[in-house]
Parts: sequence; structure tokens; C-alpha cells
Amino acid sequence: MSIDFSKYIASYPDFPEPGILFRDISPLLENGEVYRAATDKIVDFARERNVEMIVGPEARGFIVGCPVAYKLGVGFSPARKKNKLPGETIEESYGLEYGKSSLYLRTNAVKPGQRVLVTDDLLATGGTIDATIRLVEKLGGIVVGTAFLIELSDLKGREKVKDYDFFTLLKY
Ligand code: PRP
Ligand code: HPA
Repeated sequence: MSIDFSKYIASYPDFPEPGILFRDISPLLENGEVYRAATDKIVDFARERNVEMIVGPEARGFIVGCPVAYKLGVGFSPARKKNKLPGETIEESYGLEYGKSSLYLRTNAVKPGQRVLVTDDLLATGGTIDATIRLVEKLGGIVVGTAFLIELSDLKGREKVKDYDFFTLLKY
């Protein structure tokens, strides 16, 4: 039986700021069968690309990337916000649909030449995924794919990842 994943995305106008129509993945995550089916789609995408490592940005990139890493038996390294990661890290800054920020990755997170999948829940302007890709590439990793649950196509984030294989479960 095929699942209509769009039934498990909630939409909230004017959250967290006026003018933003917030697409919320919580109902999808809260349904075990649907969360697993969505994860399995990304697992298939990752298997076709011989993924060896997954990197996802804080916080919702973890929710998408970790179960894929578990299923594949590969590592997951979190790209985190400021003052969250101890030890030696590298930094990349980015602009958000609302605000500006930096992401950090452990310098040992990815080995040169490693085949990396970058995951997040949602692609909006593409700033977050672009910063995550730059972190991986700074360490010599090869980004063999980017995977999302949702793409907000009006915000044109796809242009930022046009050079990479792309998967999204849903498009708005
Ligand atoms: C949201 C979302 C993506 C990013 C998408 O995360 O989870 O990571 O924004 O926007 P972009 O494509 O315009 O960069 P947010 O920064 O709100 O952090 P959170 O996951 O910690 O809530
Ligand atoms: N929904 C969820 N997260 C987001 C959104 C959105 O519409 N835009 C940027 N991050």
C-alpha cells in the first residue's frame, strides 16, 4: 500500500513570524509506519549512491539522517549551532529564511574521499544545506546526495544544490 505522505504534514500560517507558512513534519514523525516508510525512501536513495557517512544540520537534520544511518550501518555526524560541539571544529555561516547563523562540524567528522549524504527535514532558501555541504567539502568529503522530506520550491533552494543528486519526499 502506498502512503500519501502529504497527509502527514501540518501547515501553520504566520509561524514563527508573520508571512511564513510553516510546514510541520511532526505528524509524519509521530506515526511509526509513516516515519519508517519515509526513512526507507531515503535509505534506497542512499544505497544507490554507496553512502558511507551522513551529515545533517541541527536540529531536524538529525531526525531525518539518524534513522537512515542506523539502517545503513554508517556513521552520522551532526552539524551543530554555536557552542554545542567540543573539540576542534570548522565553521560555515549562512542566511536563513528568518535570521542568520553558523554551523560547525568536528574536524574528524568526515574522512577525505568519504561518500557523504547530507540530510535535512526541509529545503527552503537552501542556506542551511549549502553551509552543511561546504563543511563536508572543507574536510575533503564527497557529497553524493542531498535528501529532504520537504522542498519549498518557491524559495529556490534547489539552485543551491543543483550540482548534487537530490531527493525530496514532498514538494510545496
Ligand atoms: C529549518 C529547517 C532547515 C532550514 C531550512 O531549520 O529545519 O534546516 O531551516 O531553511 P533554509 O533552506 O532557508 O536554510 P532551523 O534553522 O529553523 O533550525 P531547527 O531545525 O533547529 O529548528
Ligand atoms: N517549515 C519548517 N521549517 C522551516 C520552514 C517551514 O516552512 N522554513 C524554514 N524552515
